[in-house]
Amino acid sequence: MEHLAITGMQRLAGHVSVNGAKNAALAVIPAALCAGGVCVIDNLPMIDDVKSYIDVLNRLGARAELLDNHTLRVDPVHVAPVTADFDSAKKIRASYYVLGAMLGRFGEAAAALPGGCNFGARPIDFHIKGFEALGAEVIVEHGVIYVRADELKGAHIYLDFASVGATINIMLAAVNAKGLTVIENAAKEPHVVDVANFLNYIGANIRGAGTNTIRINGGERLRGGDYTIIPDMIEAGTFMIAGAITGGDVHVHNIIPKHMESVSAKLREMNCVVDEDEDSIRVRAAELLSPANVKTQVYPGFPTDLQPQMCALLTTVQGTSIIRETVTDNRFQYIGELERMGARIHVDGRQAVIDGGAVLSGTDVSASDLRAGMSLITAGLAAVGETRLANLHYVDRGYEDLDEKLRSLGACVERRGAVKSDVGSYI
Ligand code: EPZ
Repeated sequence: MEHLAITGMQRLAGHVSVNGAKNAALAVIPAALCAGGVCVIDNLPMIDDVKSYIDVLNRLGARAELLDNHTLRVDPVHVAPVTADFDSAKKIRASYYVLGAMLGRFGEAAAALPGGCNFGARPIDFHIKGFEALGAEVIVEHGVIYVRADELKGAHIYLDFASVGATINIMLAAVNAKGLTVIENAAKEPHVVDVANFLNYIGANIRGAGTNTIRINGGERLRGGDYTIIPDMIEAGTFMIAGAITGGDVHVHNIIPKHMESVSAKLREMNCVVDEDEDSIRVRAAELLSPANVKTQVYPGFPTDLQPQMCALLTTVQGTSIIRETVTDNRFQYIGELERMGARIHVDGRQAVIDGGAVLSGTDVSASDLRAGMSLITAGLAAVGETRLANLHYVDRGYEDLDEKLRSLGACVERRGAVKSDVGSYI
């Protein structure tokens, strides 16, 4: 199996540019199904999940074609409410956005129960509650979710948790519901705002995205349009942390520094020098980093998608650090692999207590999900010797040209084919 070989202890230094945001791309692409004409979406990251979503749209009858490596043209005119239970839909969790878009447009939709990264329970009850509030009937049968409504009517919906997916999915349906829909306790992530901006750009009437309360006046006639998605804040944070763990000096370009505030603040707290300008951030690690306590929270708090990478960093910093994961449950599955590299971590439920100052050593490890894989790569960058990461396909779901970007910063990483594990089989 393909794996990534990392020879650690190389100080990262230099400039790197991030691509468009994965989690914005995986919402704006299905949002094009709501459009009344051709859409051209630019600054897409060329990652496996985006390639899967392009296949999903074509199987639904949309004509989705790449104009170049980062630009997608979607003609949604011939879309039909086909059940999205094919392989490409099953591979990605975000395929559930097809439900909201198609329910709004056709009054019916069906999609396979979500796939994607497997860390803890990731139900979609808030999505279902939202669709039902708009007047839809929802049935889950044989692994497929069926939604249908004679007429969608605006509703006042309160989310028990500021769920990114539920906020976006309800928005996608509500743009075609009659009357006003209000989403209370809405998610405020930048990618939620990006989808709302795209929908408004094609004629929707959405106010308040980025705040706790989003108001959608449905029923507007939607058209086509061109749109450029936002930069990926998680990719940016990943490189910032990689600079810190290698004692480096990394300048991350093509970003929106405001999106990075919680990450920049935490790295400054750890004695890194973090300088911002209009569209870039430079991180210089101090000789001696300080331990820190990290609590993941919904935006603008510290993002759960950078928790695994931050954990890897903290294992190398002298002193005790504590991570509390409040957004998802069971997002510490990668810690066993970090411990095999010499990390000293005690996990108790949603809390990890890190006895830092470990000198990590490279070994064979495997990714259990996208950010778990990124945590192990981050650790490998600082480890003594070679780390070989298997299940690289998880990482390819969320990062474009990761090995090339790391090499451009001075890392010693390369993709390799299958390798004999010590039990003689190929991993
Ligand atoms: C999105 O997932 C992201 N994925 C995730 O990024 C990210 O970790 C997450 O938001 C939180 O920021 C995409 O955007 C494609 P949620 P999503 O709905 O929409 C509970 C990555 O690494 N919940 O905010 O699934 C449940 O416990 C990926 O890029 C319910 O109970 O996140 C869930 O874990 C991983 N019922 C938590 O809320 C629901 O109906 C956060 O869910 C929905 C969610």
